[in-house]
Amino acid sequence: MTQQVVRIIEMGPRDGLQNEKQSIPLATKLELIDRLALAGLREIEATSFVSPKWVPQMGDHDALMRGLKRRSGVAYPVLTPNLQGFEAAMAAGADYVAVFAAASEAFSKRNINCSIAESIDRFLPLMTAARERGIKVRGYVSCVIGCPYEGEVAPAKAAEVTQRLADIGCHEVSLGDTIGLGTPASVQRLLEACAKVLPLHRLAGHFHDTYGMGVANVYAAYGFGLRAFDASVGGLGGCPYAKGATGNVATEDVVYLLHGLGAYTGIDLEALVDTADWISAQLGRAPVSSVARALLAKRPAASAA
Ligand code: HMG
Ligand code: MG
Repeated sequence: MTQQVVRIIEMGPRDGLQNEKQSIPLATKLELIDRLALAGLREIEATSFVSPKWVPQMGDHDALMRGLKRRSGVAYPVLTPNLQGFEAAMAAGADYVAVFAAASEAFSKRNINCSIAESIDRFLPLMTAARERGIKVRGYVSCVIGCPYEGEVAPAKAAEVTQRLADIGCHEVSLGDTIGLGTPASVQRLLEACAKVLPLHRLAGHFHDTYGMGVANVYAAYGFGLRAFDASVGGLGGCPYAKGATGNVATEDVVYLLHGLGAYTGIDLEALVDTADWISAQLGRAPVSSVARALLAKRPAASAA
């Protein structure tokens, strides 16, 4: 049987760090990105070109992009909410960009200060500029299962926004369970609806782990046929506009799951766990992921001085 290849899109430097209250030094962010590249991650969402008034932690986006040690075969995409962000991202050398919409009106308003329809309209000039330059644009749909303000979200609504993003030219749409409410059953219903509007190879799963369902949801989505997942090293993160939401499912948990299923990710799990341990220490905590904790506990204790 041919081995399944799965893309992991690393979210740690952007989705992971954007919610940190303490200001993280640029050198730490750059080292995190480089450690991830050396561990085998091939798509690393590096930062976002959003307003620094809204998300101060990402305010060093220009310096970060210019300071990257670019590794061959690694793409460093960024988040861009509008043409202004896109132009700045291009000037700073982003490889591709991502726009972000929501399946819930209330979340759209809180996150990007406009309705869902207005957000799509704002993306249009960005999409045109990207097309002219041959730049790929990924699309995110937030709150595909539930919204912190509106509650449950119908799969049909998530599918409708997915379709809109594909219609305006997004090559791939990442389905964001922003507050981690999903279970394998609701993920299945979501994918059934979205697969009707976009082929599975153009969809990705973006599961936050707030309820501890992240790995179960990746497993369900993998079983459904999805082969691209967003994940965050050490389980870092949360969304500034979704109170109480924790990070993306940890990259090391996803890699452990997928390797156990015989899939290929190209990622060195031990190097990834080192990175989870290192960045968590930089933030003054232990890695939250089970796999990191388990593998770290098996290592011989550092010899006492
Ligand atoms: P706005 O206030 O409506 O924008 O914000 P505006 O067009 O009226 O401009 C107001 C000011 O913002 C102006 O500056 C603009 O220049 C500036 P002023 O004249 O007042 O000095 N501005 C910008 N500055 C830098 N970069 C830009 C930019 N655009 C305008 N690109 C805006 C609208 C979208 C800008 C704002 O709401 C924003 O930046 N929001 C950020 C939201 C965000 O980053 N959220 C977290 C990421 S999304 C996420 O985590 C979910 C995801 O992970 C998937 C999931 O889990 O569901 C992707
Ligand atoms: Mg997210």
